[in-house]
Amino acid sequence: MKIKKKIALIDQHDKNGFWGGKFGGSFIPETLKKPVHDLAKSFAKLRKNKNFIKKRDYYFKNYIGSPTPFIKLENLSSHLGGAQIWAKVVSEANGGAHKIYNATVHALLCKSMGKKYIVGDTGAGYAGKMLSMAAKKFGLKCKIFMGVKDIKRQKPNCIAIRKNGAEIVPVYTGSQTLVDAVSECMRYWVSNCDTTHMCVGSTVGPNIFVKVCGWSTSQISRELKVQIKKEFGKIPKKIKLINCVGGGSSAYGFWSEFVDFPKTQIEFIGVEAGGPKNSKLHAAPLSKNAKLGVLHGSASYVCQNKDGQINETDSISAGLDYPGVSPIHCFLKDTKRAKYTYATDESALAAYKMVTKFEKLNPSLEPSHAFAEAIKIAPKLSKDTIIIVNSCGDAKKDKDILKKRLGKY
Ligand SMILES: Cc1ncc(COP(=O)(O)O)c(C=O)c1O
Repeated sequence: MKIKKKIALIDQHDKNGFWGGKFGGSFIPETLKKPVHDLAKSFAKLRKNKNFIKKRDYYFKNYIGSPTPFIKLENLSSHLGGAQIWAKVVSEANGGAHKIYNATVHALLCKSMGKKYIVGDTGAGYAGKMLSMAAKKFGLKCKIFMGVKDIKRQKPNCIAIRKNGAEIVPVYTGSQTLVDAVSECMRYWVSNCDTTHMCVGSTVGPNIFVKVCGWSTSQISRELKVQIKKEFGKIPKKIKLINCVGGGSSAYGFWSEFVDFPKTQIEFIGVEAGGPKNSKLHAAPLSKNAKLGVLHGSASYVCQNKDGQINETDSISAGLDYPGVSPIHCFLKDTKRAKYTYATDESALAAYKMVTKFEKLNPSLEPSHAFAEAIKIAPKLSKDTIIIVNSCGDAKKDKDILKKRLGKY
């Protein structure tokens, strides 16, 4: 299993849609064969179309607000000592998180395929909020599937979704979190695919959804590459790109442009949700060595029991609380191009507290997992090591949880 150079990671799958021969694919019911095929055909055509790229870039700049800032966290770096810590502040994008890239591209695809209805899943509420924003912007009717547990813990994003005119469909099945929301959304799409387009909120799902999402979020690393060169005059010798990993869309977007660099120069560190400190439950299939399984139409490492039943997960972060992960991250793990670890709820909270104490930055609980790792390793590293954390979401959505757990927001 090898990564090819000069080919986008999203395109490094075989003819059956598998990365590394075993991750990904398209495990879909017969009814979805046509809409999935139509989407793959439209996407393949549009991504080569100069006018479509022009349109995408126009909205990335003028609607999303690209490029998002790249800043040095001077106070945090000098407090910790060791490596320099920087942040790519993707939470400054319109709506407050990276999910806006995928949502905007899906809305454009939906329109170009002549569909008027769009549906999507959400956990932290950001994928839903962004899809509702994009739907409003491009005149589409939108439904968001969301687990009841997440509706309760991510209220500000639910308010935003409804304000944008989208309907939230509460999901009462299973653990009432993201995994169930994706299942229900897919079920709805099976019965409504003639008129409705589906947006999967991360780099998961049948092959084409992994590709569309990765293609959209890769804007983050395209920008970052330019910003690093501008800041340092060249690409420095020791960089560590640290990103939280739920489904894996922000990490994919943060890393994709740097895949061809040697890992000794640019290292990728993915941080999953380790769950509560003294609990057996977590949402860390990569770092806790989960077995290969099939979830939501694709094969990946999935938290499961010995009979192959999907395990319940637990994380303070709704966006990371998912038992599966992108097939591309499985491929990056097995090829050893990326390294994956986890942070517990408690260390993510401690990291949030420390970052907000020293910096004017308000990372949501998802990127706080990545900051936990940065805070852990920075003091042991040399001053010429550049740690860059993708601060991919704003913590406004987490204010109730932060108030409860830290006594203040
Ligand atoms: C701010 C934020 N970061 C990270 C994630 C995790 O998803 P992904 O791994 O696809 O970026 C989410 C998911 O909702 C999110 O809202």
